[in-house]
Amino acid sequence: MNTINYEGHTVAYQREGKGTPIVLLHGFCEDSRMWEDFSPDLLEEGFQVIRIDLPGFGQSAVIPEVSIEGMAHAVQAILEELQVDPVVMVGHSMGGYVGLAFARLFPQQLMGLGLFHSHPYADTPEKRAERQKSVAFIKRQGPVLFVKQMLPNLFAPSFARSNSFLLEKMIYRASHYEGEGIIAAQQAMAERADETATLEALEVPVLFIIGEEDQTVARDKNKAQTVLPDTASVHMLPKAAHMGMFEAKKDTQLMVRQFAAFCSERAADQNRSA
Ligand code: MLT
Repeated sequence: MNTINYEGHTVAYQREGKGTPIVLLHGFCEDSRMWEDFSPDLLEEGFQVIRIDLPGFGQSAVIPEVSIEGMAHAVQAILEELQVDPVVMVGHSMGGYVGLAFARLFPQQLMGLGLFHSHPYADTPEKRAERQKSVAFIKRQGPVLFVKQMLPNLFAPSFARSNSFLLEKMIYRASHYEGEGIIAAQQAMAERADETATLEALEVPVLFIIGEEDQTVARDKNKAQTVLPDTASVHMLPKAAHMGMFEAKKDTQLMVRQFAAFCSERAADQNRSA
């Protein structure tokens, strides 16, 4: 992993390959290693992959009171350091929230945005209350019990039953995150802006990957968001919940690959005609 110093905090990333850059952003209580079995396929197809540990996860330091926008700025700082621009950004769940904030702040730096089990809507009051409960739980019981209870619920039950090793690995990794980092991310998600207008205004294609069995993103939200952008590629995964990169790995690799190829071709055409 490489690191940058972002406003006094370490932010870690890994860059591999050459070609059109695809930035992969993980979700809550995960880190860039979640893409380790997913990205080789993209590399083999000639893409460049940049995987980032968002603040508080993996090898990135906790940034106290970080916001989702703050995370987007940290991502931009890495891209500036690497001098890659524009990119295809694919964010899983919380990573999608960061991707949307990035799209609002730095629209010129995107050639496509992928929302992998994510959405643009702000938290409802109920969701915010739920997050405050989990913050209290982490403060009381510590982060390990929290991640042990949380992570299995992200998968479809039958997949979780037959992939216990994967789950154990994710729980093991997440058990090393500091409680303050998990709490900061929960607060950041609770306070994040609604990005509906961002999706509506986006001039680049959007990829939606949706799990039919997702218990984390409500079904109505999943469907409603898909009509917001001008150009969208929408995929429903019939047997997946919130973790399609594992639950339907080959299918979702193909979706990301085809989407990135399309975005790249479209950006090149636009450059030629400009
Ligand atoms: C995630 O997987 O990143 C989270 O479930 C997103 C959220 O809590 O809204």
